[in-house]
Amino acid sequence: MFLRVLDGKAPYISSLRAVEDRYGFFDIDIEDNIQTSEAEYLSLVVFDLKVTCERQRSHVRRLLLALTDVPVVVICDMKSQSERAFWSGAGMKNLVHKNETPAIIMTAISKVMEDYIHAIRHAENAPAIAMKAANAAMTSMANSVKSNEALRDQMLDVAAQHIVSLLNNNRASDWLSIVEMHHSQTFQHSMSVASNLTLFAIGLGLSPKEQCHMTKAGLMHDLGKLFVPLDILDKPGKLAPDEYRIVKEHPRTGADFLSEHSCLPQSIIDMTRSHHEFLDGSGYPDGLTAENIQPMVRMMTIADIFSALTEKRAYKEGYSPRVALGMMWDMGGKLDAELLKQFAYIVCGTRFGKVDTSRRSVA
Ligand SMILES: [Fe+2]
Ligand SMILES: [Fe+2]
Repeated sequence: MFLRVLDGKAPYISSLRAVEDRYGFFDIDIEDNIQTSEAEYLSLVVFDLKVTCERQRSHVRRLLLALTDVPVVVICDMKSQSERAFWSGAGMKNLVHKNETPAIIMTAISKVMEDYIHAIRHAENAPAIAMKAANAAMTSMANSVKSNEALRDQMLDVAAQHIVSLLNNNRASDWLSIVEMHHSQTFQHSMSVASNLTLFAIGLGLSPKEQCHMTKAGLMHDLGKLFVPLDILDKPGKLAPDEYRIVKEHPRTGADFLSEHSCLPQSIIDMTRSHHEFLDGSGYPDGLTAENIQPMVRMMTIADIFSALTEKRAYKEGYSPRVALGMMWDMGGKLDAELLKQFAYIVCGTRFGKVDTSRRSVA
């Protein structure tokens, strides 16, 4: 969660207001308290206020005590020596002048987030911090759908950076074990797809930026399920034809929502729309065939099916990775056989026939 601390009586009208849509800040007043337990859920705190008296200074110091380990950015009047001295004396290093443009503020905040994620990469609690970021991104996504408002892309960026960082640092099993325990089936599935897809991208040698891109696509791919009534979505048995027709709309509704309410690139929207398409034309919603299904979409489909088969549900045990891969292999011409071989090798260490390791440029 991103928090902005304001002074209700004399706020700076800084350019941070202009980047609000992207970051989705929750505002609190300088007079409010932050409990240490609440601070655990914060990914970023921005102080955007003019500190004018000793009373405010002591409020800021008290808040900062609760914010140990949380990245903090301060928007202040850099031209005022006393303000600069106060913030520096309080140990704040990330100071941005109040009149900077939104682009400069955005860059400063992104840099602070990246440094923070880089620094906690090896920390014991890094998977738990990543889970908080992923939960915050997914909850914000659900809220955007509910209120028909713009998606907070930046929260998705932060969650993706945390996940990519863990998976690049041999923390996959720590991360996946918390994902497996997640109480929400939809969140758990999306995080599991994001993780398998990211491991796949890392194994294929895609760049860090492309890896992040795949993580975001994995987190978003089933967004359209938020439009499906829960009694259909959670129905344990076979769906009636009418119910199945509604479920089959989720790739289209998800992609339409992202097109209208986010700044995500077209390839993520395509992966959302086409993750249930099969190379032989038997998939949905558009019945695309191989020539119209891009490699990134094919990768998404493989990660999605593998995750769905191996996940445990209240009404079914998960298949073992080996059995799941065997079932996918038996799907014949529906999946990209070469990519499936690579996936089996990269994600599960399983070999199907000869793996062509020369194939390294998918995205
Ligand atoms: Fe789906
Ligand atoms: Fe899915």
